[in-house]
Amino acid sequence: MKNSPILIIGKNGKTGARVNQRLQTLGYATRPVSRSTSPSFNWDNPATWQSAIKGARSAYVTYQPDLAVPHAEAAIKEFVRVAGENGLKHIVLLSGRGEEGAQRAEQVLQNSGISWNIVRCSWFSQNFSESFMLEGILAGELVLPAADTVEPFVDADDIADVAVAALTEPGRRNRLYELTGPRALNFAQCIKEISEALGRPVKYTTVTVDEYINALREQGQPENLQWLLRELFTVVFDGRNSNVISGVEEALGRRPTDFKTYVQKTIESGVWADQMQKTSA
Ligand SMILES: NC(=O)c1ccc[n+]([C@@H]2O[C@H](COP(=O)([O-])OP(=O)(O)OC[C@H]3O[C@@H](n4cnc5c(N)ncnc54)[C@H](OP(=O)(O)O)[C@@H]3O)[C@@H](O)[C@H]2O)c1
Repeated sequence: MKNSPILIIGKNGKTGARVNQRLQTLGYATRPVSRSTSPSFNWDNPATWQSAIKGARSAYVTYQPDLAVPHAEAAIKEFVRVAGENGLKHIVLLSGRGEEGAQRAEQVLQNSGISWNIVRCSWFSQNFSESFMLEGILAGELVLPAADTVEPFVDADDIADVAVAALTEPGRRNRLYELTGPRALNFAQCIKEISEALGRPVKYTTVTVDEYINALREQGQPENLQWLLRELFTVVFDGRNSNVISGVEEALGRRPTDFKTYVQKTIESGVWADQMQKTSA
């Protein structure tokens, strides 16, 4: 059974890459896929799904761009149908807290007849280093339409540990894990911690949502990204997700990773090094 691969959708993603690496270390065969792999897997092209799924026994599923987008529920509905027809027995779905679209997608999986786990997460700490906030940190100023709302940022390494436990331990099937980090911080506090640990100034500036979206439009960012960020900063980021919960502890029997630890290991990885440090390295 260890030889029949575990499908990982989102090969190079923030969590997919970590889940893949952990499973391989444990000796599991994996099939990590995305648009750039062979076989390829593209959420926007269902014709690619069957060949990616065939022969796999279980799957770690990350939906791009985000389960909050309006067509995500329909895509997950079709995905679980194709998965069931092609013999997939267990799906672990990465989901987001407080997102109505994401919760509808979760229900589709829960009602599919396939064994499931849902890993429902707060914002990832890695958004500061592997996603849309990286550029601002490198430029010395992060500009966002979020003032005082606090968020218990969760570490993608904790998410991957929970996902791997769900994928490899059958006794955990049909359970939802809701994960947050141990401390709720607003963006200004996060940037202060990052700036102090880096030893160089990084500024945090707030703007209105309209100003932020207009700037994205002027930079030529795709409309679906503009829609998603408006949705995240107006609807999802209204304080509904500010409470810390003990999901990591319940799933893994240990404390979740603190934001300080995340900052330290990210500095060690070199992704926040400024241009001069990178040239002299
Ligand atoms: N970020 C957060 O704070 C947060 C919080 C809670 C929940 N989530 C959920 O996390 C999920 C994303 O997971 P993640 O952050 O681990 O992944 P990710 O980092 O967003 O994944 C990026 C990878 O996805 C692939 N990709 C992009 N578009 C694709 C498409 N149309 N079809 C197939 N692959 C595609 C890309 O590889 P290729 O270029 O090779 O295709 C890219 O390397 C979302 O569903 C979101 O709802 C995120």
